[in-house]
Amino acid sequence: MVTIISGTNRPGSNTLKVAKYYQKMLAQKGLQTNLLNLEDLPDQLISSDLYGKRSAEFRPVQEMITASEKFLFIIPEYNGSFPGVLKTFIDACLFPESFYDKKACLVGISSGKYGNIRGIDHFGGVCSYLHLHVMPLRIHVPAIKTELDENGDFFKEDTLKFSQEQIDKFISF
Ligand SMILES: Cc1cc2nc3c(=O)[nH]c(=O)nc-3n(C[C@H](O)[C@H](O)[C@H](O)COP(=O)(O)O)c2cc1C
Repeated sequence: MVTIISGTNRPGSNTLKVAKYYQKMLAQKGLQTNLLNLEDLPDQLISSDLYGKRSAEFRPVQEMITASEKFLFIIPEYNGSFPGVLKTFIDACLFPESFYDKKACLVGISSGKYGNIRGIDHFGGVCSYLHLHVMPLRIHVPAIKTELDENGDFFKEDTLKFSQEQIDKFISF
């Protein structure tokens, strides 16, 4: 099972649009995926699912993570790093079995110039701790507001080229 994780719970996020775009591209190449939108986490996550607690609402999310072998994380830049809600989600998942010796592919996006280079590096450190093997080709998409057309698809030549290369590599990773 392959799961795409949209790495923010901000309503109307560009991250979710990019996650859906990747899901569509992967489906066109024959790979069906789950999409976990962090907006769907329990509202009470910090009191209901940390430090050994488990809510009925989070249980299906945990089951999906446990059953997944490969993950594609779409991660926006928030204050020079990845969003706190993404780390809280990781902290809520069972350790080590959720991510241990599994595979991940990382996509950084930002409204600014850097495409979340630092946040992807920071998240790569978390992946190392988790023994989650990260695919070498990471994609950074700056100025995300100029990158998506009215259907939520990438349309610029370079972005299409590098995202397609990443998608092909992810399928065979
Ligand atoms: C809390 C917060 C912090 C942000 N910090 C940065 C930042 O450090 N650098 C940047 O380029 N954009 C920053 N942004 C803008 C996001 O990169 C922008 O909203 C982009 O669309 C990706 O986030 P989204 O998926 O929430 O839309 C921030 C947005 C939020 C909500």
